[in-house]
Amino acid sequence: MVDKPRPLIAGNWKMNGDLQSLAELESIAGAISREPGQVQCMIFPPFTLLAHAQGIAGTSRLEIGAQDCSANPSGASTGDISARMIAEFATAVIVGHSERRAIHAETNTIIASKSAMALDAGLTAIVCIGETLQERENGATLEVVKRQLVESICPRSNHRNTVIAYEPVWAIGTGLTPSLQEIATVHASIRAELLSFMGSGGGLVRILYGGSMKPSNALAILQLENVDGGLIGGASLKADDFLSIYRQASKVQTIRGIAT
Ligand code: PGA
Repeated sequence: MVDKPRPLIAGNWKMNGDLQSLAELESIAGAISREPGQVQCMIFPPFTLLAHAQGIAGTSRLEIGAQDCSANPSGASTGDISARMIAEFATAVIVGHSERRAIHAETNTIIASKSAMALDAGLTAIVCIGETLQERENGATLEVVKRQLVESICPRSNHRNTVIAYEPVWAIGTGLTPSLQEIATVHASIRAELLSFMGSGGGLVRILYGGSMKPSNALAILQLENVDGGLIGGASLKADDFLSIYRQASKVQTIRGIAT
């Protein structure tokens, strides 16, 4: 039997962080290495800090990822960064974040190319999907999320190279979150879609929840079935908050281990 990868707690720093913020990263790397390690931990700093972050993570249990990559392998594309360039400093890359979809008009087709570039470079692709408030109010959540999922991942995606992050757009940075039941419903639907897309391997793909996850709500969300970790924005900028969420994920994993 193939084991499901460990749950993942991932911190997305977005366009935040400077050389001074590396102190937070040092605290995270040190603390994570003292934890039992049944939960994987990644931080996604801005590109300018990637090389520093890689140095700090060193041989600790902390892994470093980048926030986006080009849909192209190389060439005349000023300002863009390819997945292969990222692979020199990081092990993963976030693609399809709703901020990229909204601010940079990225379509599912573009995101699928980015997913493919990530896989070609040997990176883990963290593929983000999620509905807007209007789509939720129109009752279109499951349909939107399903379409984004099947159109944004690469045909070669599997549980080893791809992680899905469900992030309702209206929950990102707002302090709002869906109810636990709403999160469970969407994650179950993503799981069903992964199973039909990949066969039994779809049961092993990690599905993260993201959108205003913080120390006060993490435990309840992380305990839900089909929630295999979190993608954390604001609360990942402070080591204490991020580590609190990480430890709650470890606790959930310990409880799950005892139950099986
Ligand atoms: P947030 O961001 O935790 O600040 O809501 C999550 C994300 O956008 O990945």
